[in-house]
Amino acid sequence: MRTSKLLALQLLILVSLFTSVRIACAQQAPAKFTQFTPGAIWPDNNGVHINAHGGGILYQKGKYYWFGEHKIESGAGNRAMVGVHCYSSNDLYNWKDEGIALKVSNDTTSDIAKGCILERPKVIYNVKTKKYVMWFHLELRGKGYSAARAGVATADKVTGPYTFIKSYRPNAGRMPFYPAETLDNERVDCTHPANKSDGFFCRDLPGGQMARDMTVFVDDDQKAYHVFSSEENFTLHLAELTDDYTGHTGKFIRIYINHQTEAPALFKRKGLYYMVGSGCTGWDPNAARWFTAKSIWGPWTFHGNPCKGAGADITYGGQSTHVLPVAGKKNAFIFMADKWTPKNAIDGRYLWLPITFKGDEMEINWSDKWGLNVFDK
Ligand code: DGJ
Repeated sequence: MRTSKLLALQLLILVSLFTSVRIACAQQAPAKFTQFTPGAIWPDNNGVHINAHGGGILYQKGKYYWFGEHKIESGAGNRAMVGVHCYSSNDLYNWKDEGIALKVSNDTTSDIAKGCILERPKVIYNVKTKKYVMWFHLELRGKGYSAARAGVATADKVTGPYTFIKSYRPNAGRMPFYPAETLDNERVDCTHPANKSDGFFCRDLPGGQMARDMTVFVDDDQKAYHVFSSEENFTLHLAELTDDYTGHTGKFIRIYINHQTEAPALFKRKGLYYMVGSGCTGWDPNAARWFTAKSIWGPWTFHGNPCKGAGADITYGGQSTHVLPVAGKKNAFIFMADKWTPKNAIDGRYLWLPITFKGDEMEINWSDKWGLNVFDK
C-alpha cells in the first residue's frame, strides 16, 4: 500500500513537472505575427528584435530573404562590428534568423575590416552564374565617410557565407550616357562645370565616382543596375552592372542633378520604372521623393513626396531602403523604411507601409497596423 502511494505520488510529480515544462515551452514559443506594426519592436523566431537595417529583400524559390546591417548597441553601433545579417520568411510577418551572411574581417588591412562602415547591403541572384551577389556601400575603417566605395561579395547559397571580392569607386574615366531626349544644358562639361555637383563629378572622373547610399535592381531581361548617391550625395547615378553582376560596364546616367537624393529604392510596375528616395539630412528623417521613367536610362521625372497626411514631411520618421514586390499578388508593393536611432543603433525600427496607386501615381499612407490583405481590395 505504502509503495503504491509512493508510486502514485512520484507519478503525480512527474506529470506536473512535464505539464509545467510544456507550459514554459509554450510561453517561450515566438508569437506568430499576422500583421505588420510599423515602428514596433519586431521579434524574430528567437524573440530577438530583427537586426537588418538599411536592408533589402530577395525573393527566391518561394521564400523571402532579408539582408541588412547588423548594428550593435550605443552610438558606435553604426560601425560594422559584425557584418550583414540575414533572415528568412515564408509570409513576410515572421522571420527566422539565418545568421551573418557576410562577416566583417578581423584582418585590419581588409577593406571590410571590423569597424568599417558597411551600409545598405542588397542581394541579387544571377541566373547565368548561379551566384548570389551582394552589393553594399563601404567606408574604410577609421576614414569616416570619405572613401565612398561600392563593395561586392558573392555566395553559392542565398544565406551565405558571402565572400568579399572588392570595393572601389565605379566608372573611373567614364562620361555619362545620354538618352536621346537629353538637352544640351543637361550634359556635364568639365571645362565649365555648371553647378556644385558637376564640379564633384569632374573632380572624381579620373579615380571613379563616389558611391554611397545604394540599391541594386534586376530588370525583366536579367540586366542589373546599381543606383547610388554620388558626387558628395548631390546626384544619383544609375549604372549598369556586368553580366555576372560583380562589376560596372561603364554605362551610367545621372539623375536629379544637384538635388541631394539618398536612400534610393527602385521597382517596376506595369512597364514603368519607379524610384523612391530621400533628402540628405544624416540620420534625421526628411521628406521622401519619387520619380518615374519609361526607360531605365531615363529621362527620370521627379514627382515630389509620395507620403500623405500627418508625418508625411518626415516620412513618418523613416528613410527609404527598399520597395518589395509581394510575390503572387498583383500591384502589391511594400515601402520599406528605417527609423534610425543613432544613439543606440541596434534599436532602429522598421517602417513597412503599403503603396497605393491612382493610375500610375504612387502614394504612401501611415498605418498603425496592417496586413497583406490590403492588396486584395
Ligand atoms: C543617411 C544615409 O541614408 C544612411 O545610410 C547613413 O549613411 C547616414 N546618412 C549616415 O549619416
